[in-house]
Amino acid sequence: MGRNGRILRISVIGTGYLGLTHAVCMADLGHQVLAIDVDAEKIAKAARGETPFFEPGLEPLLRKNLDAGRLRFTDSFAEVGEFGDVHFICVGTPQAKDGGGSADLSYVFSAAEALAPHLNRATLVVGKSTVPVGTSREIIARVHAAAPAGELVDYAFNPEFLREGYAVQDSLTPDRIVFGVTSDAADELMRAVYAAPLASGIPGLTMDLETAELVKVAANSFLATKISFINVMAEMCEASGADVIKLADAIGIDERIGRKFLSPGLGFGGGCLPKDIRAFRAAAADKGVDSLVDLLTTVDTINLGRRDRVINLARGALGGDLSGKRIAVLGAAFKPNSDDIRDSPSLAISGRLADEGAIVAVHDPVAMPNAARVRPDLRYADSVHDAAQGADLVLHLTEWADYRAIDPDALRSIVTNPVLIDGRCTLDAAVWRAAGWTVLIPGRP
Ligand code: UGA
Repeated sequence: MGRNGRILRISVIGTGYLGLTHAVCMADLGHQVLAIDVDAEKIAKAARGETPFFEPGLEPLLRKNLDAGRLRFTDSFAEVGEFGDVHFICVGTPQAKDGGGSADLSYVFSAAEALAPHLNRATLVVGKSTVPVGTSREIIARVHAAAPAGELVDYAFNPEFLREGYAVQDSLTPDRIVFGVTSDAADELMRAVYAAPLASGIPGLTMDLETAELVKVAANSFLATKISFINVMAEMCEASGADVIKLADAIGIDERIGRKFLSPGLGFGGGCLPKDIRAFRAAAADKGVDSLVDLLTTVDTINLGRRDRVINLARGALGGDLSGKRIAVLGAAFKPNSDDIRDSPSLAISGRLADEGAIVAVHDPVAMPNAARVRPDLRYADSVHDAAQGADLVLHLTEWADYRAIDPDALRSIVTNPVLIDGRCTLDAAVWRAAGWTVLIPGRP
């Protein structure tokens, strides 16, 4: 008997960030899980108990469930079709390269089309990848056309809300579970999949497919809007000599506002928020919802403007010309506790500083190998001290806890110029100033 009472046979298509986490967590709930990916190397690694990305807590859970015999990997869609009562599609939906910001759905459609010919009996296919509203109906049509079981194959949309760095916790104990369905049977089966978290009191919300698709992008758009809101407040504070952190603390106490996602600085990056708001804007434009297009355009513009702000501060601190100046950058990941450098504000800034002639040395506790693949021209330093040796300027751009433990006195003794820009507003400016540093913080005096 699994933790949830009823053990289901679950397949997971795609073993990237979302898929591998989902497969491991489904197995941990007690289900029998078979995961597939077109990338043989990924599968081989996962089957050995190794995660191909940095995610605290995931690797031990992967090993635990491999050892318990609840989780297996394959490269055969025939095996997956035969095995699963429920098939989760967890492949990527990156930003399309057409320049319009829309989502590239080719991986989702390929996954559905690879699976469908092997669906010989009544089964449930579940979309988990973030998709534009209306996509689920298109997937259903393609699956029904290609599956031997035809319309016996049901479909549900079950969006994910996991944050990198907290993926396991967010998968096993999410704030809510959303079931976009077209039948009671699909709703019941989805509730059996998630029986354990539902029994613990986590709300399960059943709705139509379109609403469920919109819930996901609306949630990410709200978070992005909240971040851009506090960042324009930072601009206003800076123009007024006010302090955006004190402002965020004060308004955040109001429960209607809330302090979470009111941290100002460099704005949002990563593989989700930026591409999701752009895809949502493209979908809104398609449907002629101009007010949503305007809102999301403004959120995106404010967000990208934060990077310019830090570059301007850097230029100003270095006398207006970056060429030949030595800049130490602390952080390359798009946020702490992650090795993900997709749309990373810190890496984008580092690259632009280098493009303007600065000699940039980057440090990050875990993201340097990924960063080096994208920007091999930057120097990657083994330690903060190595990065800061002889620096004319130090930039704090990803707020790893390690950086809060830096001794400003010790660092001061090895730089050429003790000037710090705290792009994430999380270092103790008073301590750095007391150690003789000039500290510049966007939005703070
Ligand atoms: C985000 C959402 O938080 C998840 O709920 C969602 O499931 C996920 O996208 C997804 O769609 O898959 P994630 O991209 O892991 O998760 O990262 P967040 O923790 O949301 O941070 C996003 C960016 O916003 C980071 O660059 C972070 O530094 C920035 N941020 C966050 C701020 O600048 N200020 C804040 O107050 C909070």
